[in-house]
Amino acid sequence: MDPSQVKIPALADLTIDNITENVIRINSLNPDPRMKYILERLVEHLHDFARETRLSTSEWMAGIQFLTKTGQICTDVRQEFILLSDIFGLSLLVDSIDHPKPAHSTEGTVLGPFHTHEAEHMSNGDLMSKDDKGEPLLVVCNVKDVQGKPISGVTIDIWETDSSGHYDVQHADRDGPDGRCVMTSDDEGVFWFKAIVPVPYPIPHDGPVGQLLKKLGRHPMRPAHMHFMFEKSGFDHLITALYLKNDPYENSDAVFGVKNSLIVELGKVDKKTAEKYGVDEGIALMTYDFVLVTEKESFNLRAENSKKALEKLGRRVKIVEGLPVPDVD
Ligand code: BEZ
Ligand code: FE
Repeated sequence: MDPSQVKIPALADLTIDNITENVIRINSLNPDPRMKYILERLVEHLHDFARETRLSTSEWMAGIQFLTKTGQICTDVRQEFILLSDIFGLSLLVDSIDHPKPAHSTEGTVLGPFHTHEAEHMSNGDLMSKDDKGEPLLVVCNVKDVQGKPISGVTIDIWETDSSGHYDVQHADRDGPDGRCVMTSDDEGVFWFKAIVPVPYPIPHDGPVGQLLKKLGRHPMRPAHMHFMFEKSGFDHLITALYLKNDPYENSDAVFGVKNSLIVELGKVDKKTAEKYGVDEGIALMTYDFVLVTEKESFNLRAENSKKALEKLGRRVKIVEGLPVPDVD
């Protein structure tokens, strides 16, 4: 379209106090109600941030330089912006909003940058870590729906670090995937495998995000955990992790991923269990019942939560394609 033909609202004489409404008005030419709403709120919050902090030009330039460096370090295998979102708690916040969980279902948490699409498909009983320095662990899990009915045929991606706290992709000389697998829940909704006891490790902190953490007096550590991702048609996609109880970083995770319901206490494999699963008696045991919600349950809960949260803020909204937009008519 010829830019000179676009009818834009005339700008007022711009001041600290009226620039926000002018920018919002001009952005409102956008016909997409959801994008219009997001941009309106973004501009208002950004402008309020500058007004409330009395942001100086040199501070804003420092911010822009930081964001530039954050972009420059990104590659196909390094996403520093997601890391930035993680250390501000924004990733966890967005996941919690977008994938609300009814009581008694399994909560989600941060995905992190180390999921890959190259993990081997494994069967119940397989060993997913070749690290012989790791402490052996037996993992036995159930997948159920909120009524407690087992769900078979769920695809589960699982990944963890080696005993040195590195994911396979962090080793330049690796010879294939390790510490990861894809499983399918069996007819009873069960999946089980052999792994190693997870250890705490630092998020990548040799870039701008690491420097920021240092300035903030924060450490880059994550508590020991194992990642799980669940997929089955008709169910809300679940990205989660299990965290080990009493980890030194349990209360100061660099990316705010820990939730009480996801903390597990490791047991020890007794004689009967050792015989049943063909593992050594006395090794560590992790058990967990994962509870998935249907897509419909998740969709309805998200809409209900959105309405309630925005009503609290005094906003009238309607839900369009599952997401709130101002209810203007
Ligand atoms: C992880 O758990 O793999 C992770 C999560 C967020 C940032 C970095 C790593
Ligand atoms: Fe991790």
